[in-house]
Parts: sequence; C-alpha cells; structure tokens
Amino acid sequence: MNMTSELSLANLNHLAEKYLERISLAKDISELEQVYQAAFSRKSGEISNIMHELKDLAPDKKKEIAPYAQDLRQKIETALANKKIQLGDVSQDQTFFDATVPSKDSGRGHIHPATQVIWEIEDFFRSLGFMILDGPEVDSTFFNFEGVNIPKDHPARDMQDTFYLDENIALRPHTSNCQVRAMREYGAPLRAIVPGRCYRNENRDARHEHTFLQFEGFMIDEGISIANFRDVIDQFFKRFINEKTETRIRPGYFPFVEPGFEFDFKCFCDGFCGLCKGTGWIEFGGAGMIHPNVLKHGHIDPDKFSGWAFGFGPERLAMIRKQIPDLRLFRSGDLRFLEQF
Ligand code: PHE
Repeated sequence: MNMTSELSLANLNHLAEKYLERISLAKDISELEQVYQAAFSRKSGEISNIMHELKDLAPDKKKEIAPYAQDLRQKIETALANKKIQLGDVSQDQTFFDATVPSKDSGRGHIHPATQVIWEIEDFFRSLGFMILDGPEVDSTFFNFEGVNIPKDHPARDMQDTFYLDENIALRPHTSNCQVRAMREYGAPLRAIVPGRCYRNENRDARHEHTFLQFEGFMIDEGISIANFRDVIDQFFKRFINEKTETRIRPGYFPFVEPGFEFDFKCFCDGFCGLCKGTGWIEFGGAGMIHPNVLKHGHIDPDKFSGWAFGFGPERLAMIRKQIPDLRLFRSGDLRFLEQF
C-alpha cells in the first residue's frame, strides 16, 4: 500500500466525514462500540493505524500531515464521548471507557485573590526575618481574651461580637489569640506573623463579614520601641501601596497594647476621594506596644523585653490595591469576580 496516498489530507477529511456520520447514526451503545473498534482498535483500527504510520513519514510530510491527523483523532474521540453521553451510558459500560479521550475543557483554576495577597505579605515579612505561624480558629477564651488582657466580664469583650461554642470555647474573633501561644512556644526574642481566618457575628455589608482574614504581627526583643514598628510598617506600605506613601499612627484602644494606636497610610488622591472620604488618609489596622500582662501570660519577662503587635485585614489590602468594592465578593465563589485575578 502506498502510505503517502493513504495519508493525504483528502483522505483524512474523508475519514473524518465517514466516522462522524457513523457516530451520529449509531442507535445504541453496541453500535457505537463497533464504530469505536473500527477507528481505534489496537490492531486494525483505521485511525490507530494512521497514527502509527505517521511515525514513518519523511519529516516534511510528517510536519504537514500530523496536525490534521491529531485533529481528526480528537474530533472522533470527542464525538464518540458526546454520543455516549447522549445515549445515556456513561458509567456502566466499562469496556468502552477510553482514558485518552480528552475531557471537555473545564478551564484551569488559579490562586484565590485573597491567598495571592497573603502570599505576597508573607514574602515581605519573611524577608525581614519573621516566622510565619498558624493557630487554631476555634480557641479557648483564655487565648482569645484573658491571655490578651481582656478579663472575663470586662466591657472590652464587647468590642467583638464573638461566636461562642460554649462558655470557654469560641471561634477566634481575631488572630491575637496567637500572641500568647507564640510567646509560650518560642519565647523571646520573637518575630512572627500569623495570617488566618477569624469570625465575628457581624451584620454583613460591603466592609463587614462574619468570616474574614486577619494578619497578626509581632516583634519582641530587648529595647524594641514604636520606632521599630514605624520603620517596618513604612516599608510595608512602600512595598504594597507605593514608594511615595506616608504612614501615620494615631491613638487607639486595644486592651492588649499600651500605648495602643491605629495606623493609616496616605491616600493616592490629592483631595477628595471615596476611599479616604476626603480625609487624605486610609485607616488600615490596629497596633501598639504589647501590654506587660500579655508578655507575662506568654512567660516573657516584661522588665527585660518589649515588643509591638499589629493586626490588619489582608482582604482590605487586596480591595484597595485591586479596586474591589465589596468584601463579600471574596467568599462568594462568584467566577465573574474570581476570574478577574
Ligand atoms: N486584634 C485587633 C483587632 O482585631 C487588632 C490588633 C492586633 C490591635 C494587635 C493591636 C495589636 O481589631
């Protein structure tokens, strides 16, 4: 047999037509099976033979014919698979299962936009020598509250609407539950960040969610002061917002820090904008010098060591940088949102 005439483009087209027609006319699975055997049986299948013969063609000829042959094979395989579904037999007939049939293209996923920003933040802090820690999302009220200087019945507990599982266990309302845990585990000096999910009984709106992400960070050593914090957070905003932005801190109350403050960065705008509401500053997170009581709970001597801690929402950073208008989108599973990142 003359192989080149066998493998002409006209011949391939003819075969495609022939098989697609036979597939469309097949009335049941056994008829479809016959078509499958005629095309792909290992010894005598017409398409299998062609694929085999391709190997022996002269390089030029091969380059010309191979893409058409591949295409032919794929068309027939897909038509067979679709017809099989149409005939209502997808699972029972094991003998006809062909693992080489390409699946329908369901698209390739990618990393969630919140995870993308978490990874970036982790890289930044890793480069400054911070450990990246993990902690429980369901935790005792000791680590959630008492450990971070919020005693039982103290009004500060109302700062967060916590989901209690029982009197002593709660879904963590902040990643600060990991402060004392980390101190007890690693002692001082200590530099760590803790990203993770937190929960609060919030009324959902564009900026509030019952489930959200936080980033805790702390640095404890001898002689640590607010100046260290300013430096780290300056570098942070320069990296994540832009080189020109400035940072400011203003007094704020959190029971686990003294003094406590909130930190903001300078808005991109020159005057009024919706993001900073005309103030020129964007509120970003809470921070402060770790309260001596918290160091003591962490078995660290507050007379020898001092440190700062901060907390902020990485989703908020992603929202600012990528102009995402609504926090609820992150957990919506909405592909129209996710596919943009
Ligand atoms: N845990 C605080 C909150 O959830 C944030 C914070 C962390 C403030 C560390 C100060 C120091 O709002």
